[in-house]
Amino acid sequence: MKLILLGAPGAGKGTQAEILKKKLEIPTISTGNILRAAVKNGTPTGLKAKEYMDAGKLVPDEVIIGIINDRLQEPDCANGYILDGVPRTIAQAEAMEQAGISFDAVVAIEIPDEKIVARMGGRRVCEHCGASYHIVNIPPKTEGVCDVCGGKLVQRKDDDPETVRDRLEVYHRETEPLKGFYEARGILKTVEDQSTVDGTTQAILRALGVDA
Ligand code: AP5
Repeated sequence: MKLILLGAPGAGKGTQAEILKKKLEIPTISTGNILRAAVKNGTPTGLKAKEYMDAGKLVPDEVIIGIINDRLQEPDCANGYILDGVPRTIAQAEAMEQAGISFDAVVAIEIPDEKIVARMGGRRVCEHCGASYHIVNIPPKTEGVCDVCGGKLVQRKDDDPETVRDRLEVYHRETEPLKGFYEARGILKTVEDQSTVDGTTQAILRALGVDA
């Protein structure tokens, strides 16, 4: 299955992508994670992306298209993939279409902005492997320590309330129009956030017609 997870910052795309990848046995490709790794490693892409990411702005389309074209060539993508956080603009979607990259379904997770702002303050991510937690909703077994690799859990730089609001504004302006783009292609599935991770997973699987 070739899938896009669409949704506002903090809608739960990354959380659901990690669950769906195990269920569907296909890789997850998160441009946010790829870019954060590039920033951490100080690569030319990372140096270019950092100022945009810290300000809650979108990284230029040509950087993203290069990343995706390279990643989708890798052998683990042969049987499908889940794109998390990409495409993010109509230009990115059109570039993928022109490159012959097709999708079976686009799942848009719907959640009110106010719920996101409240939720983001509690997010913690592993500075080593990028695994995501929430201090109330999805706490790690040991406070401040990643269950997966034992790394330190930190707050993302772009999760302060002011930057979250800027990211939401960018989402509504640049990314939300993608719903119409994929609806016109007959592959959009809209799913409401269910306030629990499992509830939202079940709603996504139902929308995709996959057994839970
Ligand atoms: P990216 O990393 O993609 O960030 P984002 O889209 O803003 O999304 P987030 O990772 O913040 O949230 P999410 O939807 O994955 O939510 P999560 O599962 O963590 O991008 C970061 C930056 O990179 C962008 O701002 C941009 O600069 C750049 N970038 C990336 N891709 C780009 C592109 N294609 N083009 C241009 N620039 C690009 O969940 C959030 C929290 O809620 C967590 O704590 C989680 O535990 C909790 N939670 C999740 N689901 C539930 C639930 N159902 N109930 C309760 N709690 C929940």
